[in-house]
Amino acid sequence: MAEVVIVGSPEEGGALAASLIARVVAAKPDAVLGLATGSTPLPVWQALARLQLDLGAVRGFALDEYIGLEPGHPESYRAVIDREVVGPLGLTPSLVHVPAEGLSGAALAGAGQAYEARIDAAGGVDLQVLGIGRTGHIGFNEPGSSLASLTRVKTLTEWTRRDNARFFGGDVTRVPLHCVTQGLGTILRARSLVLLAWGESKADAVAAAVEGPVTASVPASVIQLHRDVTVVIDESAAAGLRYADYYREAWTSRPAWLR
Ligand code: PGA
Repeated sequence: MAEVVIVGSPEEGGALAASLIARVVAAKPDAVLGLATGSTPLPVWQALARLQLDLGAVRGFALDEYIGLEPGHPESYRAVIDREVVGPLGLTPSLVHVPAEGLSGAALAGAGQAYEARIDAAGGVDLQVLGIGRTGHIGFNEPGSSLASLTRVKTLTEWTRRDNARFFGGDVTRVPLHCVTQGLGTILRARSLVLLAWGESKADAVAAAVEGPVTASVPASVIQLHRDVTVVIDESAAAGLRYADYYREAWTSRPAWLR
């Protein structure tokens, strides 16, 4: 089931996504969550922290990581996940994984396979949280990514590096060129997906992902191939959707047993 939910604010969207996560964890206390970084998921982590659930048994897998930052760099996704997710939610640090951790140079060639094996050994991801980039990327799967791709090394686009320069003092030259990211095939294996977007800068990417053709040129369009996707967006991010009125009606009129 794909559901597009248009909310009044990122806070409202964060609360909705947090409630979806809470439901998964209530049914399975050691659920496996797919963790996204960036600004978009912050309202989700904040709303989830407010629920004060015991998440100590939850396992986590980050979507992606930069290559080339020194260990402990505050903008490495390991550091971001520790600061914004593990700490506030009370996750157990040893149960939360980031791709390619501790690897450099030639060893990075095996990082993808090792991460896939780790996800498999955990029984797969139960719920994957996703942001979307203006290039239509999910994880760091930039345009042209194979729709069947697994975790591997990728090159970031100039657009993504410019978008992320705000985390590096506004200096695009400090944003790494390479990363390791879960593939689109990896993301499709998660049992459910929650894709989030706020603001008008994401409107084109959201419209292309939700209503455009499924194409490697818009990597996020691959979500159309998944059975259980919830797209949670604010009004500005929904501005390009042709069927927005229908999605609103479908959500507000959903039968009580679906709520
Ligand atoms: P953002 O990034 O949440 O910082 O906008 C989203 C993404 O690039 O996936």
